[in-house]
Amino acid sequence: MKIKDIINRSMDVAPWVDGEKIPWNDPGLSQRILASHLSQDTDWASRRFDIIDRQLDWINSRLKPGSRILDLGCGPGFYTQWLIGLGHSCVGVDFSPASIEYARQKAAESGTPEDRLTYILGDIRQYQPDGLFDCVMMIFGEINVFTESDARHIFQMASQALRPGGLFILEGHTFNAVEETGMSPTMWWHAAEGEGLMASEPHLCLQENFWDEAGRTATTRYYIIDGETAETRLFCSSMTAYTEEGYSHLFTGSGFQPPVFLSTEQWPVGAPFEGQMMTMAAVK
Ligand SMILES: C[S@@+](CC[C@H](N)C(=O)[O-])C[C@H]1O[C@@H](n2cnc3c(N)ncnc32)[C@H](O)[C@@H]1O
Repeated sequence: MKIKDIINRSMDVAPWVDGEKIPWNDPGLSQRILASHLSQDTDWASRRFDIIDRQLDWINSRLKPGSRILDLGCGPGFYTQWLIGLGHSCVGVDFSPASIEYARQKAAESGTPEDRLTYILGDIRQYQPDGLFDCVMMIFGEINVFTESDARHIFQMASQALRPGGLFILEGHTFNAVEETGMSPTMWWHAAEGEGLMASEPHLCLQENFWDEAGRTATTRYYIIDGETAETRLFCSSMTAYTEEGYSHLFTGSGFQPPVFLSTEQWPVGAPFEGQMMTMAAVK
């Protein structure tokens, strides 16, 4: 891709057409995002441990001893590792090679046997649950980056994975957060003097946002221009916005009871995400 391709780009943007999502499963990207997961200076990628600890207290308060938990989009395994320590067993699924490698290494260091803690490197949408779980969780807003049809598939899979009475905990973005992303200034850029999330070398990042009112979808295009060669790459990310009612339909349409919406006392989201994220729990 060349700079003239940016100049001549189509402004007729359809969600998920220019690219499914930022390829967090790319080895280089996955390695760079791992640093954000591990950082205790920010709440991006994963929350800082003090917030995760409080979320885990809530999760554990809902579990029977020795529960079996499935973590969809487990990242580096902060939640699973802690739940193992409380006597539960876990399966974590994530398509980021660096995060899964980190999680497996931590599991090996703690001497946890694989029948109690298994990490699967793969796409959530292709994952087929092995056995039944007491709890399925999908934390930190990843549900919104899937098309609505993929989201429905994930809800169905979570439902099939749970035993009757099992709990699905889901943290999604609020409708307003997604809408604000789509409607925020259409063109924005920054210069990275060194390594950034999207590239390891100095680069320019040009970003533009679109809001599709009919589809309730925000799409962001990122043009990454190499500082040396001016070679340009396009990344694209789309997010579906759900109201509380929209989320409730996803649950009840997949065999769950209507969800309970957690307060930020029960489930702290971290300062940058106040009013941006909401957490729901529904019993099958
Ligand atoms: C915002 S992070 C949250 C990680 C973890 N739940 C936490 O809170 O620490 C979202 C995670 O979802 C993973 N992910 C995104 N899309 C995925 C997909 N299609 N299949 C598997 N994992 C996916 C990413 O690699 C990333 O680790």
